[in-house]
Amino acid sequence: MHFSVLTLFPEMFDALFNHSIFKRALAQNVISADIYNIRDFAIGKHHVTDDKPYGGGSGMVLKPDPIVGAIKFAKKWYPNALTLLLTPQGKTFDQQMAREFSQENALLLICGRYEGVDERIALDHTDMEISIGNFVLTGGEPAAMIIMDAVSRLIPGVLGADDAAQLDSFSDGLLEHAQYTRPENFDDHHVPDILLSGHHQNISDWRRESSLVRTLLKHPDLFDSITLTSEDLLILRKWEKTIEKIIGNQSSCGAASLSSTGKNR
Ligand code: ADE
Repeated sequence: MHFSVLTLFPEMFDALFNHSIFKRALAQNVISADIYNIRDFAIGKHHVTDDKPYGGGSGMVLKPDPIVGAIKFAKKWYPNALTLLLTPQGKTFDQQMAREFSQENALLLICGRYEGVDERIALDHTDMEISIGNFVLTGGEPAAMIIMDAVSRLIPGVLGADDAAQLDSFSDGLLEHAQYTRPENFDDHHVPDILLSGHHQNISDWRRESSLVRTLLKHPDLFDSITLTSEDLLILRKWEKTIEKIIGNQSSCGAASLSSTGKNR
């Protein structure tokens, strides 16, 4: 996997490249990266990269010509690079996209700044507009780093054997099970006995249940896009019964009559 990044602030990427896992993957050529300063592709003595918006208004807009110059330069080496424009207007990045991007030979990430990027970049020079969430950053650089991090850890050889990305949250559509390490008792919270038992099947069953319950509580929308096994359904039915019992007990204590008056909204 090769990453080409177009930015006005190349130094922002130093932190990522000097970080242990990324640094090792770069050193071992499992991944490679080039950072291009958009300013280097701006013409004129002052290398101007932005200008006032047509139609008026506050803020500045990134000019199209330096960006196109940088794209063409980067594409000399990776002509088929999937070209992504980082913008809050894009499709929201998720683990499925990370998986798809990790199958590419190269990604070209364009980091916007200021009030935006001239619309003709999105129209003619990018394959996809990508957002990392419904909020506005001062620039696309943190978004590019997030994508590079999420994608590169799916590339074989980037993570050590112990880090197994296959077992992560989202890798099978569910959140990851709860994790514990030493000490066995911390602030009066004990590690579940099963995890100390050394019984592999019981540990594996416990972890599956933990994944299912955590997904149910924290991210139930994820169930819409996965197919559960019959064992998974049995686990959820067990919890359904527990919840029904709790509700039943509460109803007999008068909670149901309270809710029918709407007083506990
Ligand atoms: N640039 C500014 N905000 C952004 C966001 N939310 N995602 C991607 N790029 C951005």
